[in-house]
Amino acid sequence: MGLLEVPPGHISVVQRGIRFSVEVSGPSRGYVCEVFNGHFVLPDLGPIGANGLAAPRDFEHPVAAYEKRECEYTVIQKFLGELWSAKQGHSPYDVVGWHGNYVPYRYDLAKYCVINSVSFDHLDPSIFTVITCQSAEPGVAVCDFAIFPPRWMVQEKTFRPPYYHRNVMSEFMGNIRGAYDAKPKGFLPGGASLHSVTMGHGPDANAFKKATTDVLVPVKLEDALAFMFESTYLFKLTPYALQENILDKEYYKCWEHIVPTFDPNSADGYGPNQPMPPLCVRLHETPCSTGNPPVGSIPDGVFAVGRDVKPGTYKSLGPASPGLSCGWYRRSSLGGTSSDNIIDVGSSSGPQYVRIAPTDAAFESVLCQPWVLVSP
Ligand SMILES: [Fe+2]
Repeated sequence: MGLLEVPPGHISVVQRGIRFSVEVSGPSRGYVCEVFNGHFVLPDLGPIGANGLAAPRDFEHPVAAYEKRECEYTVIQKFLGELWSAKQGHSPYDVVGWHGNYVPYRYDLAKYCVINSVSFDHLDPSIFTVITCQSAEPGVAVCDFAIFPPRWMVQEKTFRPPYYHRNVMSEFMGNIRGAYDAKPKGFLPGGASLHSVTMGHGPDANAFKKATTDVLVPVKLEDALAFMFESTYLFKLTPYALQENILDKEYYKCWEHIVPTFDPNSADGYGPNQPMPPLCVRLHETPCSTGNPPVGSIPDGVFAVGRDVKPGTYKSLGPASPGLSCGWYRRSSLGGTSSDNIIDVGSSSGPQYVRIAPTDAAFESVLCQPWVLVSP
């Protein structure tokens, strides 16, 4: 049929019965999913309509090619669950004329049009489906292939990472690059996780802490690409997967430090064991005061401009702890920490500058390293 180059960040689907070989130009890694029932197709878009998610126009087929070589080839074929081999004296890729519609394809995951909530709530990850292999039972997939690519997160009043859940699908996840938002440090590129049918799972303790203390301004998840093979079937682990040196036997510990936070008697629902750092500031009606004359370094808290902090341009080196986001607000009045008096707001996991104007009433810093005055 031809040649199909599959660069990093692409997927390729090779249908059952097609003879193929893989050549690499250097050390290479990838993830493979084999289905034994049905074929991958694009998902029904439902109310999304005609456009969105993976577009048919972006699926590419091989460039026609053949080779005329007479040498020993070993052809390996899978049959009844076992691999069989046979030798032949010429290339299997010597077919010059061919036409049909049963042909491998590739897809660049960067072309995926992400649909996400723009109001509140974390959506079911099925909204990130690229291709699906449906079973005979409606709504139940042999395999959904979903991705979690770079995207904007803008939801308000929402726990933004995936919610805690258990379901009747097996979820095999892999991380291609960057940090996965539900496990920023515990799920490295090249790794994989498996949550089998009915096993509860969700964000780790670090992700939970970040999600419950984040300033909910629009944030772009940059250069992150994780994926999931979700199947109604149970996966059996191979001896290779159970090797001591590649198995994370302490995976369950990623949830150990999550503590209950709900207190029905507190004004904001947070209880005394909440994992938030001591934010005196966020629950007070009036700004905290440093008790000192205006200074050139601003810690976390809400401070009156002029009284507690000097106007000027400040720099913070980033979040107070790795894995968090540093957020800030410039406020037009001293009362409270509501969304009504925001002049400007920002959030980042890296260094930031902010210009506090003399006309600002208050400045609020959340989970940041101290803001240092760099120019008046
Ligand atoms: Fe899940």
